[in-house]
This record gives sequence, C-alpha cells and structure tokens, in this order.
Amino acid sequence: MMNVSIIGTGYVGLTTGAALAFLGHRVTCIDIDPKKVEQLKRGECPIYEPELENILKGCRDRLTFTTDYEPAISGSQVVFIAVGTPSQADGQPDLSYLKSAAQAVGRNLGPKFTVVVNKSTVPIGSGNWVESIVRDAMREAKKEASFSVVSNPEFLREGSALSDMLYPDRIVVGSEDPSATTVMQDLYLPLLKQSFDSPKNLPRPKGFVQSPFVATDLQSAELIKYAANAFLALKISFINEVAELAERVGANAGHIARGIGLDARIGERFLQAGIGWGGSCFAKDTSALISTAREYGLPMSITQAARDVNSRQRARVIEILLSELRILKGKKIGILGLAFKPFTDDLRDAPAFEISSRLKERGAKVVGYDPIANSRVRQEWADRGPIVADSVAEVFAESDAVVLVTEWPELVNSDWKALLPSMKNKLVVDGRSALDRPTLTGLGAKLIIMGYGA
Ligand code: UGA
Repeated sequence: MMNVSIIGTGYVGLTTGAALAFLGHRVTCIDIDPKKVEQLKRGECPIYEPELENILKGCRDRLTFTTDYEPAISGSQVVFIAVGTPSQADGQPDLSYLKSAAQAVGRNLGPKFTVVVNKSTVPIGSGNWVESIVRDAMREAKKEASFSVVSNPEFLREGSALSDMLYPDRIVVGSEDPSATTVMQDLYLPLLKQSFDSPKNLPRPKGFVQSPFVATDLQSAELIKYAANAFLALKISFINEVAELAERVGANAGHIARGIGLDARIGERFLQAGIGWGGSCFAKDTSALISTAREYGLPMSITQAARDVNSRQRARVIEILLSELRILKGKKIGILGLAFKPFTDDLRDAPAFEISSRLKERGAKVVGYDPIANSRVRQEWADRGPIVADSVAEVFAESDAVVLVTEWPELVNSDWKALLPSMKNKLVVDGRSALDRPTLTGLGAKLIIMGYGA
C-alpha cells in the first residue's frame, strides 16, 4: 500500500484516485477549485461517470480531498499530475495548469524519493520540461529532495472509465529512471496481476487474467498516447468514408465493418459508422499531433485526412436534412442526445452542438434532449445550443425531422409508436446506426441511417 497524491479532479484524476483507493492505496485528491473539493467531501461526484460515486463512497476511509498541496505531496511516494491541457487556437495544448501543478509539486516535495507521474496528455518532450519545472521550484523553495518524472498515459474512455482503469489493455510507463519504473510497477501490481476482487457492478471481463506492462522512455510513452488516439480516430473516419461509398453502391457498412474487423490485424472495435467522433480527446490530440509534427517539418497527412472526414460527417447531417426537407427555415428539427457519447454528460466537441448551430444558421428551430446532460447544456451552451426539452415527447411534437445524435439506450428504445404520430413529418435520421429499421418503417417513418442510406 502506498501514499498517493493526485492533482486535478477531472475525469482522469478522479477515476485514477478512486481506482487506486479501491486497490488499497491511501489517496489524496488535490484540486484548486474549492467548490469541487467541498462537493467531493460531501460525497457528491462533480461529473457523471457510471459507478464512480459508489466507488468514491465505498473507499471514503482511504480517500481525502483537499485544496492544500502540503502535507499531501510531502507525504506521498507517488504524485500524479492529472490536470487539463485544453487546446489553444494554434492546435497546441495549453500547459499553464500543468506548469503550476509542477511548481506546486517542487515546492512541496518531501524528504523521501518521490515519483512524479504525468497523466495529462502533453506534447512530446513535456516530461523533461516538467522535470525542470519541479527542480526549479524545489530549489527556489530551498529544498533538497530526490524525485523522478514518469509519463503514464491514460487510455480510459469516458462512460466506462472505471472499467478501463481496472481492466486495462496495457499500462504504459515512460521513464529514464528504472527505480521510478519499479515504483510504478508496484503501485499497479494488483492491476497487472488482476489480483483484486472486482467491485460489485464492474465485473472483470471474461478471460481477463492480467494486464501487460509496457516500460519505455518518456518520449515514446508520450507519443504512444497521441498515436493511440489518432489511430482510433482514423479507424472511425476510415469506416465513415467507406460507409459513404457503401451507401452509393448499395453495400452494407455494418457487414463491411464485420467482414474486415474479423481480420485480427484490423479488429472489430471502433468501426461503427455514423456521425463520427467527438469528445475532448480525439479532436484535441489529432490537432496537437499535427501541430507538433509541423514543427519537425512533417505534414501528418493521414491524421489530417481523418479530421477532414470527421468534419464532413457533421456536414452530411445538414445535407441529408436539406435534401429531404428542401427548406430548413422555420422547420423544427429534434436532436436526440446532446452529450458526445452515451453514459457521459461531457459536451466537449459534441457533434450535437455543431449540428444544431448549423441548423440554426439556416433558420431551423432546433430542440434537443439528453437523459443526463440537459442541465449542463443549459449552463454551458446557454442560448448558443438547441432549445433544451424536458422530455423526448417535446422533441418529437410537431417536428419536421428528428436526428439521433447520441445512442443512449433510453433514446434508442423510445416509445416510437407513441412518438412518431406527434411529428409533422415522420423523418428520422439515425447518426449512430442504432435504430431498428423494420420497427420504424413499420410505423410509417422514413428512416435514413448514416452510412446505410434510406
Ligand atoms: C478516447 C479513447 O477511446 C481513450 O482510449 C482515451 O483514453 C481517451 O479518448 C482520452 O484520450 O482521454 P473517449 O473520448 O472517452 O476516449 O471516447 P471514445 O469511446 O473513444 O469515443 C470517441 C468518439 O468516437 C465518440 O464520439 C464516439 O461516439 C465515436 N465513435 C466511437 C464512433 O463514431 N465510432 C466508433 O466505432 C467508436
């Protein structure tokens, strides 16, 4: 059991903290936002993530929340930095939060060897930069301490973050110091060996017996993170490009995905055609990768193409509606699902925003609903987004078309029989190939599934 501090209580920090406490470590989560810390102290979770609140509650005796760096950092063997690195206008991430976290670590290091773990997604070379910031801050505070910086990229998906954290496909640690790598191996031992009893609602996947540990250098670990996200993004864009061709030649995108995905070299996951990817990671990381490569004179044309195809997917929704309805001005368009994917309330780069903005520009009245993200939409998008409905029925009533943007099960399984008759025009666009064609067409709807056509 180790003493661990985690700076930043966003998706990554909080999930990491909860999982490490669950595995038996004593964890202090530090955040500069006192409101968030107070909420966490009360046992409330500031973000929606399945099972997170339960795990936080269950591990209360091993978890502390604070705004103070001291004494948490000085008493920790491992300090995680898990702060945000949002994109700037030039595509490069904003590292100011990372810098101030690293300075705080340097000022508060304890007498014993500390491993400083960079969990935030950072430009290649940042590990060395963090090291120099920690060292400078340490010297300014007139401290003499030994520490090592390691990069430990995160591969969790929002909506299944705890499961991804507890049953990881791999754990990557980049470091120049073998003793720091060993500390990380010890910290993660229960995950590597899968020696813990699974939490009640997060069962271990069948046949999952251990997790591989990839020990590498700092730069490689940092690049692994970008390469993984860019590859997943291009896999989705690839199937979307193929699916558009499939629509035109009368082929079936789902069969194609299965037919190519069963080749173990390709793999079946992330071949779901539709509106394309959103969220905080793929757009930000592909853009950062391109921007870093540009500094080295490399065009990264495949990654750029994946981004281009993805923007086209969003534009296609408008094209489909235009070609069906001819005129969008004055028409009511319903949007089912506003978060960037199901089981999260995260709205970052959510396709629903861009789609509703484009529709509004064309004079349409856009009404949206999300099972979890409604209140966040009201706050974050205010009047820039769709009108937020309190029920699915409000979205359908008198509408000229509805678009399924996020495949929440409760939206997919809406009471179509009751809802469709309330529409002015029974046009349904399925952006996630999630709806059942025979059911909807049987009820008189015209269903257009992106990648599959009408
Ligand atoms: C992604 C990666 O999957 C994680 O491994 C990574 O750790 C994370 O980014 C990150 O860098 O923090 P996330 O953004 O939470 O995770 O969501 P995904 O499940 O990857 O979905 C991304 C988008 O792709 C969603 O909008 C989803 O609807 C879309 N998608 C996914 C498709 O359009 N088709 C698919 O086949 C799969």
